[in-house]
Amino acid sequence: MLPELRVPVVAAPMAGGPSTPRLVAAVSSAGGLGFLAAGYKTADRVRSEIAEVRAVSGEQPFGVNIFLPGRPAPDPDAVLRYRDRLRPLAVRLGVEPGEPRWDDDDLDAKIEAVAGVPVVSTTFGCPSERLVGRLNAAGSSVLATVTTVDEARQAAAVGVDGLWVQGSEAGAHRGGFTDAPGTDEPLPLLELVRGVRSATDLPLYAAGGLMNGRDIVAAIAAGVSAGGLGTAFLACPEAGTHPTHRAALTDRRFQRTAVTRAFTGRPARALVNSFLTEHDVVAPRGYPEVHHVTRPLRTAAAAAGDADNLHLWAGQGWQRLRPQPAADLVRLLHSEM
Ligand SMILES: Cc1cc2nc3c(=O)[nH]c(=O)nc-3n(C[C@H](O)[C@H](O)[C@H](O)COP(=O)(O)O)c2cc1C
Repeated sequence: MLPELRVPVVAAPMAGGPSTPRLVAAVSSAGGLGFLAAGYKTADRVRSEIAEVRAVSGEQPFGVNIFLPGRPAPDPDAVLRYRDRLRPLAVRLGVEPGEPRWDDDDLDAKIEAVAGVPVVSTTFGCPSERLVGRLNAAGSSVLATVTTVDEARQAAAVGVDGLWVQGSEAGAHRGGFTDAPGTDEPLPLLELVRGVRSATDLPLYAAGGLMNGRDIVAAIAAGVSAGGLGTAFLACPEAGTHPTHRAALTDRRFQRTAVTRAFTGRPARALVNSFLTEHDVVAPRGYPEVHHVTRPLRTAAAAAGDADNLHLWAGQGWQRLRPQPAADLVRLLHSEM
């Protein structure tokens, strides 16, 4: 069973820095649900972040998100050609492109680390019945990220406790089960929620483009229990958003977002910058291989304050950001509702 929330606001899991224990504890202590992001971290780091949240917010419920990266396997030649294409930029940034390699984000160790956290959400795959049973037995409710009605049906069939319904407006990766050719086009959030609502009675959290209380009320009217906000929390002082990314979010130079494989090999929504413009059309399918290839470039760009060569993840509502402490944002959203 998902926890009862005093405020139906969830701070979406955001890997790569933003979801710090401080952000999670601030949101949960304010009556919402904070979410840690286990993606890209070691299992030990995830364990210590969980302990940090517990130390600050005590018995307040919180969540943690894990990746279930699946296939299809990429075309290895296409990934190598993409690597060659990025080499001149890498030289300018003073690095070498990374080696394309597969990894499962240390999934087994992470399952051990997160078991027992009140809510565990999964991304990039349908959890197995066995995984749901293992997490439920440890006291965790399981939420699967879904981006289509069909994925919602599959997740319901394996016994998850609820669904994280992610609309096409959302910032960063589409968290659906597969990136195979022929995957359904993602739907805007409210349309997707209505479809999922008619397919299952499971509790739903909705995410994608929600920025204020009115947006959350519209999602609740469509049938969800709470609104999940990622981008809206990126500018909070407690978020670990990289300063280059944080500054870009309010830089008028960036005028739109687009979904691209250019940064990681998997579709993700980012502010349109020159990296995206130059490489989007040729970027191959292939996560996490392409993620590993571009990583040294993105790390160097971030350190150099070069927003044109960094993945500037942002949802479609980014221009409505209201930077302020996370607890104040939760209270503001609640009052607007
Ligand atoms: C910077 C960033 C990182 C993200 N990382 C993750 C992640 O690790 N796992 C996940 O399930 N979703 C991730 N997401 C997606 C969010 O959980 C959520 O679905 C999305 O932010 C909602 O859309 P919004 O950004 O328009 O609020 C990320 C989003 C952003 C903006």
